[in-house]
Amino acid sequence: MAIVYPRGAVLPGSEVKAILRGEIAVPGDKSLSHRALMLGALAQGRTVITNLSRCRDVRSTIACLRRLGVKIALTRGTAVVDGTGRYGLKRCRQPLNAGNSATTLRLLAGILAGQSFPSVLSGDASLRRRPMERVAAPLRLMGARVTTGPDGGAPVRIAGASLVPVRYSMPVASAQVKSAILLAALYADGRTLVREALASRNHTENLLPLFGAEVAASGGWIAVRGGRELRPAALAIPGDFSAAAPWIAAACILPGSRVRITNVMLNPTRTGLLRCLKRMGARIRVTKTGGGAEPYGIIEAGYSPLNGADVSPEEVPSLIDEIPLLMVAATQARGVTRIRGAEELRHKESDRIDRMRELLTRMGAGVIGLRDGVIVRGRQSLRGASVDAGKDHRIVIAAAVAGMIAQGPVRIKDADCVAVSYPGFFRDQEALCSRQKK
Ligand code: S3P
Repeated sequence: MAIVYPRGAVLPGSEVKAILRGEIAVPGDKSLSHRALMLGALAQGRTVITNLSRCRDVRSTIACLRRLGVKIALTRGTAVVDGTGRYGLKRCRQPLNAGNSATTLRLLAGILAGQSFPSVLSGDASLRRRPMERVAAPLRLMGARVTTGPDGGAPVRIAGASLVPVRYSMPVASAQVKSAILLAALYADGRTLVREALASRNHTENLLPLFGAEVAASGGWIAVRGGRELRPAALAIPGDFSAAAPWIAAACILPGSRVRITNVMLNPTRTGLLRCLKRMGARIRVTKTGGGAEPYGIIEAGYSPLNGADVSPEEVPSLIDEIPLLMVAATQARGVTRIRGAEELRHKESDRIDRMRELLTRMGAGVIGLRDGVIVRGRQSLRGASVDAGKDHRIVIAAAVAGMIAQGPVRIKDADCVAVSYPGFFRDQEALCSRQKK
């Protein structure tokens, strides 16, 4: 095994093998951190959030909220947010920069749609390409005046308007679209209903009641009653399941490995990877230690031989961000793994179907890209390679895990973009990974 770390350290080549051993607490969940900050900003009074993610995406949300006049004090992992009330945000005359973060842009679009002032939400090259009409369209139905950029992406221009409640059936399973509507619903008098054909992560609907909002969910419909102020809350963010995922996947495929991850979010709308790996024969033990709607606990994972599996469209939303890692694990499983219904991967920070197919093919694996998924041939020995992660943090992480099993050095271009979701990733890898002579 050999990995070239972003700062250039090259680990010795194929005469050593990597083993993952130890215990780790991963950083606070990114999705919950964005939502806690935004709801805290809209509440009347002081919200305290502990174990907030310090990743680049969450920093984009903090920067945008500050530019909208919200006071946020940060000390280590604690954020103190002085909420302005729903109508206390201030107009920002320059574009609000969401950086690489679609969650920042799409969720803020929902909030800004209900303001009395205009706003522009911009972002990096990837956000200019990513589909924003999927958020603009339902917001328009609510009465918002929204336009998207030349390719249907950022910049998103919002004129600000008074909103009306709607019943909206979402054509794609997207928690970001759902959340934008639920946040806009806070500005519409009456009940807004959103329906999702497949369940996506439900953090917004879980957090809203903690801030005093009336939310009901049944039969695929989620209802929010708008027109009321929110109250502040105190929240402790559990560890990010998506940051635990690389260690789980690596432990499952590196013989002799065993990791214990503490305080990890166990919300079932996020943990599809565990269910899939278990089906493949993985040795994983989950112990819930607390939490209500957002349960958390300990995950222990160790090596055991895996078999290929079929991943159905229904389960894709619960492991959407973990599919690149699942593809790496699938290269080590016996038989073939087929993932279908995952076309959304083409609309992430990069086209993750193409990126992963190219990356794993360069490393010697047999991968076929489909319009809506992939087929991965198992029991492949991976070789070292120079790979381009397309400035996509999840691809960098998947490449680094592939590098742990590969013979020969893996060089990852632009690996520092890992900070978008997990700034300490390479440090944690160094801490967990021991090397043994073959
Ligand atoms: C997220 C939702 C998902 C996910 C993204 C974070 C969220 O995107 O891929 O990393 O926090 O709501 P979609 O909602 O577009 O599927």
